[in-house]
Amino acid sequence: MEMKMQGLVLLVLLCAVAQGRVYTRCEWAKLLKDQGMDGFEGLKLDELVCLTKHLSNYNTQAINTNPDGSTDNGIFQINIKFWCDDGRPNGRNTCGIDCADLLDDNPLDDINCAKLSSLRARTAWKCHCEGKNLTKYTQGCGL
Ligand SMILES: *[C@@H]1O[C@H](CO)[C@@H](O)[C@H](O)[C@H]1NC(C)=O
Repeated sequence: MEMKMQGLVLLVLLCAVAQGRVYTRCEWAKLLKDQGMDGFEGLKLDELVCLTKHLSNYNTQAINTNPDGSTDNGIFQINIKFWCDDGRPNGRNTCGIDCADLLDDNPLDDINCAKLSSLRARTAWKCHCEGKNLTKYTQGCGL
């Protein structure tokens, strides 16, 4: 019983440290709008919300590993090899930020970095959003 409690306490502590932030659909849509993203690359708000839903499920800590071993980090799944400083000597750092900043609970640097990339080129865009009826992504958000 005591061991079980200790395990539980440890788990709670670990989760507190590893905490990121998962936005609700409408919170995220509002933030994108406030950050001037509506119309970026000709993408409307519902299109951007659809894309990020399928990239990261609005999770600032989303991380996925590519076949080459690099990862895509954060709510916009930005590749660490080209866009941020991952500590490796020959990496490019187009956004001028540390890769860890793409996994913290502040998505503003992620948004600014995404502005330097092409969102339409993303597989998730082509597979899940392009040409589809996306009104549900901003429906009821009052935007
Ligand atoms: C898109 O879907 C919404 C419901 O989610 C519907 O009200 C609307 O008519 C649809 N638009 C088109 C062009 O099909």
